[in-house]
Amino acid sequence: MSDQQYEYGMIGLGTMGQNLVYNMADNGFSVAGYDKDEKKVTGFNSEAGDKKVKAFSGLEPFLASLKQPRIILMLVPAGKIVDAVINDLKPFLSKEDLLMDCGNSHFTDTDERIKRLADEGIHFMGTGVSGGETGARFGPSIMPGGSKDAYEKVAPMLRAISAKVNNESCVAYMGSGSAGHYVKMVHNGIEYAMMQMISETYHLLKQIGGLNNEELRLVFENYNQSAIRSYLIEITAAIFTQKDDITNNMLVDVILDKAHQKGTGAWTSQDSMNLSVAIPGIDAAVSQRELTTIKEQRTAASAILHAVKDKIAVEHSGLITLLQDAMHFCMITIYAQGMSLLKEASAKYGYQTNMTDVSSIWRGGCIIRSAMLEDITKAFTANPSLDNLMVSKVFSEQLNTLQKHTRSVITTAVSAGIPVPVMMASLSYFDSYRSSWLPANLIQAQRDFFGAHTYERTDKAGSFHTEWNIKIN
Ligand code: 6PG
Repeated sequence: MSDQQYEYGMIGLGTMGQNLVYNMADNGFSVAGYDKDEKKVTGFNSEAGDKKVKAFSGLEPFLASLKQPRIILMLVPAGKIVDAVINDLKPFLSKEDLLMDCGNSHFTDTDERIKRLADEGIHFMGTGVSGGETGARFGPSIMPGGSKDAYEKVAPMLRAISAKVNNESCVAYMGSGSAGHYVKMVHNGIEYAMMQMISETYHLLKQIGGLNNEELRLVFENYNQSAIRSYLIEITAAIFTQKDDITNNMLVDVILDKAHQKGTGAWTSQDSMNLSVAIPGIDAAVSQRELTTIKEQRTAASAILHAVKDKIAVEHSGLITLLQDAMHFCMITIYAQGMSLLKEASAKYGYQTNMTDVSSIWRGGCIIRSAMLEDITKAFTANPSLDNLMVSKVFSEQLNTLQKHTRSVITTAVSAGIPVPVMMASLSYFDSYRSSWLPANLIQAQRDFFGAHTYERTDKAGSFHTEWNIKIN
């Protein structure tokens, strides 16, 4: 193609960037790519075949090859690199050009970048993209936010390249400002909690059930035929079939039990605390990842601290079914926590995020896609201002039934000394949310006792303080 013809630009030709470009090209769009790394550029161009794509290692020829106003997607690591790319680009950009940051940037950075670039008339959209390498190549879930006008310009392309569920594209406008990156952050918080919940199930099935990898594969395949059908359960079943090239043992057994993170789960917890929204299941998952990384301390402690275990009387087949219900229960509460955070964030930050759109675009392409999102979408369609998913008709009925088996699983785990933090946090969340009375009156009494922090009363409005006339030595 001659100069000035490419409809879109892509900065960052790592696996994700490259796959997204190929996806765009397959859908009929012409894309120029840019990467500083000559090797990536050469590799890209030699694999491009007859696709309408071309990669450049020079910024100026790359920018000169784009139609104006330019639409440039960025898939570079979050943080300082995003700002470095923006600074490199800025002298060459013109009014009405549009930059789309498709990485996992922190939403506050996105807000700041939107403001900074708006001064020059340049649009900046924080755009969450989920689905890993395969998603990028064949259809991710896309969560764009920012200027609505800018979104309308790119919507046809985004619709074309995104995942489809029942012929509906898994992309929608998530709201103003940094809404796209906020929704993606919460997606990842939910992802952390789901992954931890699945690993707790694995722990119980392996340790109490004594299941081997082949049996685990079968169990997770069966789980994936039930109400908890989801991408994460599906890949879990597949993981139990993978052999290690080096030892020829099963790979899962040679992987060290330290779970790392790039931070998006922790950001979700941090912001939930800023917004005073309880998401204990997600918090528990983040903390548990931290606990896994102190392997040396855990190993030393295992020689000192012991579980005093009760005798466990659970049939293997019983355990498998109980766990299916416990995961079903937890999945509902985890989505409920994430959605309640999104609802509050939308109100506080003025995003105007449509919850139905969020659950609808998470049905396909993304890491937390699951059969359950169909009912979640219906619940928000029926009541867009739903305070908490748990009280919707369909999920309240399910939770009321599933809790029995969830309690059995947690009791079993506690008796056996097996940590199930996300399951416990999920059940406590449910038990707290459904309690019209909680013992917070005592906390208020304590606060007023030692600090004169005042309390509210059950019988009249206002703020009260008592001179607690009890002497403590
Ligand atoms: C996705 C994922 C992805 C994320 C990884 C790793 O939606 O495709 O959420 O964006 O980067 O899952 O996250 P951690 O390294 O924090 O586990």
